[in-house]
Amino acid sequence: MTAETADIEQAAGVLRDGGLVAVPTETVYGLGANAEDPAAVARIFEVKGRPPTHPLIVHIATADQLGDWVADVPETARILAEHFWPGPLTLVLRRGRRVPLEATGGLETVAVRVPAHPVALALLSAFGGGVAAPSANRFGSVSPTTASHVRAELGDAVDFVLDGGPCQVGVESTIVDATGEVPSVLRPGGVTREQLEAALGFPLTVPETSPVRVPGQHPSHYAPRARVVLVEPEKLVVEAEVAQETGHRVGVFAPGFLAGTPLNVHAVVEVPDSMAAYARGLYGFLRELDQRGCDLIIASLPVEAGLGLAIANRLRRAAGPRPVE
Ligand code: TXA
Ligand code: MG
Repeated sequence: MTAETADIEQAAGVLRDGGLVAVPTETVYGLGANAEDPAAVARIFEVKGRPPTHPLIVHIATADQLGDWVADVPETARILAEHFWPGPLTLVLRRGRRVPLEATGGLETVAVRVPAHPVALALLSAFGGGVAAPSANRFGSVSPTTASHVRAELGDAVDFVLDGGPCQVGVESTIVDATGEVPSVLRPGGVTREQLEAALGFPLTVPETSPVRVPGQHPSHYAPRARVVLVEPEKLVVEAEVAQETGHRVGVFAPGFLAGTPLNVHAVVEVPDSMAAYARGLYGFLRELDQRGCDLIIASLPVEAGLGLAIANRLRRAAGPRPVE
C-alpha cells in the first residue's frame, strides 16, 4: 500500500502538531519532525535513543528553498544542488537562523537535502517547512528500507507511518561538506564519488582516506544483531563453514561467483552483482539474516567504486567494534 493524498494531508497535520512521521525517501525511511520545532526535534532523539549531539538532516521540497535554511550558498553547493537535487545528496552548509541548534546537535552548520521520493516531496510541499529526519531506526542499528521495517523497529513511538514502498536506492545519501574552499565527502552514499567529481570537475577526498570528524559517525553503525565479519572473497567459504562447525549460526553474503555452490551454513543470501541492486537490498539482507536466527554474518567487500563505495562503508561500519553492553 502506498500513501494517498489523504495520508499526505494527515501526515502534514501531524508535523504541524509537533508529532513524528516516518517518511519514505529514495534512500531509506526517515523519522521526521518539524525542523523548526525544538520539542518535536527532541522527540526524534528520544525515540531513536540517539545522543543529542548527533546532527539531523533537514529535508526541503525544492532547491530554491535552500537559501532559507543556510547562511549562504557557496558556488560549489549551488552546482551540486543543481546537478543532484532532488536526489540522494546532502549538503552541509553554514546554519541559517531558521534552524534551531537542537536539529544540528549544537553545530553552526546544517545538513540539507531535497529527497527524490514522490511521497516525501508531496509531504514536504503540503507541510511547507523543513522536515528534520534521521533514518527511522534505533541508534546504531540497520536503517529501514520498507514501511514494515519502520513499524517493526519503532512501533507506536511514531505518530504516523507514510508507506512509499521499498526504497529504490537503499543506502543513505552522500554527505558533502560544502562549507570550505574544497568540498569533502563526509559519508559515501547514493550519489557516487565519480558523479560528484564529474559535476565539479575535480577530485574529492572520501572518508576512508580522511579522518572521521563527523559527529554521529561511530565505528559501529548500520549494525544488525548478529556480529558481522568481513573476509577476503577467496576465504569466504572456508571461514563460513569453519565458524558454522565451531558452533555459530552463520549467515553468508554469497557473491555471484558462489551461485549454486552448496554451503554448509545456517543461511545464505545471494548478493546481486549489480551494485545498484546490492545497495537496494543491503539492509534487507542484514535484517533477513537476523530474522533467520544467525549470530554471525560473513561477507566480503565489493569493489569500492561507484555505489560499491557506500556498500563497503556500511559493511565496514556494521562490522565495527560494538559498544560494550
Ligand atoms: O539518506 C539519508 O541521508 C537519510 C534520509 C532519511 O534522508 N537520512 C540519514 O540521516 O541517513 P542520519 O541521521 O541517519 O544520518 C545523517 C548524518 C549524521 O549522522 C551526521 O553524520 C551527518 O548526517 N550530519 C548531519 N548534520 C551534519 C553537520 N552539520 N555536519 C556534519 N555532519 C552532519
Ligand atoms: Mg542513520
